[in-house]
Amino acid sequence: MTFYEWLRSFQAWYDCAGRKQQRLNAAAQGGPVKKIAVIGVGYVGLVTAAGFSDLGNHVVALDIDENKVEGLKAGKMPIYEPGLEEMVERNASAGRLQFTTSYDEAVKNAEFIFIAVGTPEGVDGEADLQYVRSAAISVARAMDGPAILINKSTVPVGTGDWVADIVTEHQPEPIPFAVVSCPEFLREGSAILDFMNPARTVLGSLDKDAAERVAQLHIPLRAPIVITDLRTAEMIKYASNAFLATKISFINEIANICEALGADVKEVKVGMGYDPRIGPHFLEAGLGYGGSCFPKDVKALAHMAEVKGRHPQLLAAVMDINDDRRRLLVDKVRGALGDVAGKRIGLLGLTFKPNTDDLRDAPALEVAERLLEEGAQIHAFDPVGMPHASVLMPQIQMADDPYDLARDSDALVVCTEWNEFAHLDLERIHDLMQSPIVVDGRNIYEPLDMKELGFTYLAVGRGYDANGDPVSS
Ligand code: UDX
Ligand code: UDX
Repeated sequence: MTFYEWLRSFQAWYDCAGRKQQRLNAAAQGGPVKKIAVIGVGYVGLVTAAGFSDLGNHVVALDIDENKVEGLKAGKMPIYEPGLEEMVERNASAGRLQFTTSYDEAVKNAEFIFIAVGTPEGVDGEADLQYVRSAAISVARAMDGPAILINKSTVPVGTGDWVADIVTEHQPEPIPFAVVSCPEFLREGSAILDFMNPARTVLGSLDKDAAERVAQLHIPLRAPIVITDLRTAEMIKYASNAFLATKISFINEIANICEALGADVKEVKVGMGYDPRIGPHFLEAGLGYGGSCFPKDVKALAHMAEVKGRHPQLLAAVMDINDDRRRLLVDKVRGALGDVAGKRIGLLGLTFKPNTDDLRDAPALEVAERLLEEGAQIHAFDPVGMPHASVLMPQIQMADDPYDLARDSDALVVCTEWNEFAHLDLERIHDLMQSPIVVDGRNIYEPLDMKELGFTYLAVGRGYDANGDPVSS
């Protein structure tokens, strides 16, 4: 049987098994309990560990950070992620989820070992693989029987082969193992939901038995499973994130043109989104993409292409457009206030998106930095991001709530679209402000409503001037 024949028969079997599973409607009954190790309890690792334990498996999650592990043992989450605490608590109490700093403890008897350590941006946009390397070495030394190493982290194409070499080199005695790439597609803020309802599971390996066993582990999730080779799986992750980033830069470019021509990008998006070839998702114009994935992944993909002598022109444009977003917002603030020096500016939202505490590549921090450089006094309110932001940027004065932020402000700037900001008492905000100027980097308010309330309101790509009148009429 060729690999592709096997693949087809496997997929037929998978479809059948998936339907049976659906009928049973009991995800946790997907087969015998598996022993799983998860290396790294960051945004991805912790959700992966909690999710697989919730499916009935026995999971030991490891981190080299003792504080995180001690905190988790005491029920304290190292990150803010809706639904995570309850899920960890439930599975830890049931004895299915444990935390450790010991590789021996985590890897002992593990059939599946997920690597979910960080792969931050290194020099020249290249992904920094030092954590993947040290995790692979530690796993190799601790393995006590055959296991499948599954890479969750976003890693350059070819890393799976490299990890296999590292493990072989560092095993005290040869023990059979396979490497499978299973990239994560979890959005912070809805990571639990995404884990339980994936759009697809991508598995890459040249070892078909290993791929099939990892596929079985994912069957309770009832999503299509794409099985391919290692490098292709690694590429699927980069191509997916680069495509989503491209959609965002595309709509941001359209927003700029809308502003110039008096059209409304929010309605353009709705009109475009009904076309199934386009779809309504990832077309929100605003401050551009931030966070721990898109910026570094687009750069890393471009870097991989350049190293091989290719010229990733589209990716370069995607990054250029994104880099401009925060500067353009600051231009708007300056345009509304004149000189920002000495002005009190309040930032509504600090995290890179709502429902997370993550400040990695958060547009708000760059906006704050730029305004501070021009002599503004920066105040901010964020529902969960303030403790960490105060450490990163102590120059920012944190407010008690959005009304405290508005008090005596010369302008408010919406940087993160937390739900609660959409439902503020705007009349009260108006009355508290020194001058009622709102620059909305996320288009959470309606220009005409804001005009009626007496605000000077500047949004993104909405083609209205400061009086709320269409600019082209
Ligand atoms: C993940 C992926 O790994 C990354 O490739 C993807 O693009 C984004 O998501 P994330 O979970 O966000 O990264 O990283 P982070 O929150 O920094 O967590 C990584 C964890 O691994 C940390 O808790 C760190 O202490 C731990 N770690 C790091 C180890 O346990 N061992 C190491 O050697 C290094
Ligand atoms: C992303 C991927 O979506 C996920 O599959 C995984 O690979 C990890 O990286 P995440 O970074 O958590 O998830 O958030 P996401 O919702 O994708 O948003 C990324 C950035 O794009 C945010 O800064 C967000 O504000 C921005 N964005 C998103 C827009 O500006 N417009 C949009 O329409 C959507």
